[in-house]
Amino acid sequence: MPESQSVFPRHIAIIMDGNGRWAKERGLPRAQGHRAGAESVRECVEACSELGVEFLTLYAFSSENWNRPKPEIDALMKLLERFLKDKTGEIIKKNVRLRAIGRIHLLPDSCRKQLDHAIHASAENTGLTLILALSYGGREEIVDAAKRLIESSSPEDLANLGTEEFARHLYTSEYPDPDLMIRTSGEMRLSNFLLWQLSYAEFYITKKNWPDFRRGDLEEAITEYQRRHRRYGGL
Ligand code: IPE
Ligand code: IPE
Ligand code: MG
Repeated sequence: MPESQSVFPRHIAIIMDGNGRWAKERGLPRAQGHRAGAESVRECVEACSELGVEFLTLYAFSSENWNRPKPEIDALMKLLERFLKDKTGEIIKKNVRLRAIGRIHLLPDSCRKQLDHAIHASAENTGLTLILALSYGGREEIVDAAKRLIESSSPEDLANLGTEEFARHLYTSEYPDPDLMIRTSGEMRLSNFLLWQLSYAEFYITKKNWPDFRRGDLEEAITEYQRRHRRYGGL
């Protein structure tokens, strides 16, 4: 168990990677890996909720994932819809507030409907805020923010623009930046995830594939985070 007296991460962000490899190792179709990954999501949400993490952002589908073969995209969208259908009750019961970031309008209608429903039904909850990054890309987010900013600003506003004001136009304007970024399956890259917000996050990479990532692994990542010295460029 991580010690709660040391600094605890308020916001954890996870790149849930390695579902395909998990399935391949077992001679199963990739979709099986995604299905198995849903159980890791459930367990991590529950653990974060119980440990008192305030925000959990899960990278579930990237802008670039639209380039995958259509059957894989369809399987992922179906799985998301099913997950939301099955878990909304539990989300509400556990006092979790569901939110989403990304170009959500690109998701299939049935998926978006289920997502909207879960977001609305859990809007008044006061526990963990669970943020699903869907059809999300960090570069796309920055472009979207720039567009919104230009639409709503005078030339003088733009001349005086600072980073805090800019960040108020990102999808994540209501949330603090992640303290800890976890990536499963060993890849040492960001893959277009929260490019702006991860500027000073601590990174924790594990070789385990996402379907094998369990509560104990999350606690290990938090413990490792608590050993780090965050300096933010100072001394
Ligand atoms: C992560 O697993 C899930 C998504 C990107 C949607 P992958 O599907 O990327 O699995 P690998 O990386 O091919 O093993
Ligand atoms: C990142 O994983 C996206 C998600 C986990 C949703 P990818 O599997 O898409 O990333 P790359 O292709 O290895 O960089
Ligand atoms: Mg991958």
